[in-house]
Amino acid sequence: MQTCQILGSGHAVPERILTNADLEQMVDTNDEWIVERSGIRQRHIAEPGSSLSDLASAAVNRALKRADTRAEDIDLIIVGTVTGDMKFPAMACLLQEKIGAKKAAAFDISAACSGFLYGLHLARSLMQTCPYQRVLVVAAEMLSSMVNWEDRNTCVLFGDGAGAVVLGPAEGECGILSTTIHSDGHYSKLLYNPAGSQHVLSAEDIASNYATINMQGREVFRHAVASMTGALNEALVQAGLRAADLDFVIPHQANLRIIEAIAKRFKVPHEKLIVNVERFGNTSAASIPIALDEALQNGTINKGDVVGLTTFGAGLTWAASIIRI
Ligand SMILES: CC(C)(COP(=O)(O)OP(=O)(O)OC[C@H]1O[C@@H](n2cnc3c(N)ncnc32)[C@H](O)[C@@H]1OP(=O)(O)O)[C@@H](O)C(=O)NCCC(=O)NCCS
Repeated sequence: MQTCQILGSGHAVPERILTNADLEQMVDTNDEWIVERSGIRQRHIAEPGSSLSDLASAAVNRALKRADTRAEDIDLIIVGTVTGDMKFPAMACLLQEKIGAKKAAAFDISAACSGFLYGLHLARSLMQTCPYQRVLVVAAEMLSSMVNWEDRNTCVLFGDGAGAVVLGPAEGECGILSTTIHSDGHYSKLLYNPAGSQHVLSAEDIASNYATINMQGREVFRHAVASMTGALNEALVQAGLRAADLDFVIPHQANLRIIEAIAKRFKVPHEKLIVNVERFGNTSAASIPIALDEALQNGTINKGDVVGLTTFGAGLTWAASIIRI
């Protein structure tokens, strides 16, 4: 059932670009290895000390403008992030204050790279049961703040960014046709940052990069392909559609090889696949709304197009959605 549709979208990334050549100066790596294994050529990295809620505000203000919606009319703000400005309050509350969405309820969800599609799932469900007319779903990450810049296994993969959509009641054929979300905490140690209440950080921890991203890349890769494929299939079934009905597919932009493996499973031709990982790296929860917004703004995706979104992240979490623009 489509209860809501996307009225407008926006994205923002930090100005500073870190290229593979820059990384060659920092760790024992090279452009050829990074491009061959991940497809990434550059990523945008925030200046240390800058605020993620400022970046998210820029994305949201663009989305509000395109949706012709005033911040005061927003009823609910959901932010997917694991790198909010502070441990608490929620970044959604900081964002609420910055954009002036005075009447909105606001909260964060922690689903790592699946944060945007988890947010879409929640927003859609809540719009069925609550009298919300305008809902903001935002995904913003500054993973550069928790990357171990001495670990070549992970530091080459991630970038910073924010994306946002404004949702309103569905009209006609357009809308979010299906959403599906999943988790399996059994695999939590494949991708994690151990900093938290269980282990109060000492000066030694900070010096030894304890509170940074730990990842078993190969295992993560395997799970990513299987779960993103499964979720997209499920979302298609829920929407009563087949893969051939999709005009575009936007997979989470983690790695070009993962994206190509998904495309192969669903027989998605090159021209139907939205890819920007080479310019942004893996921006975690923000990757899908950034790619969606780019494709909408440059005219690749248009009104009436049916788009499949599928993602995967730490948790493990995974999710998918089918939307008609
Ligand atoms: C991380 C990833 C690119 C590594 O590719 P891979 O083919 O699995 O490579 P491996 O981890 O097996 O490493 C192969 C070799 O390259 C080396 N290597 C790792 N990172 C390197 C780098 N940046 N530059 C050069 N060499 C590197 C390893 O040390 C290893 O060397 P060894 O064989 O001498 O031990 C890949 O596993 C991947 O993309 N996984 C998914 C990660 C992901 O998407 N995470 C986020 C999910 S939301």
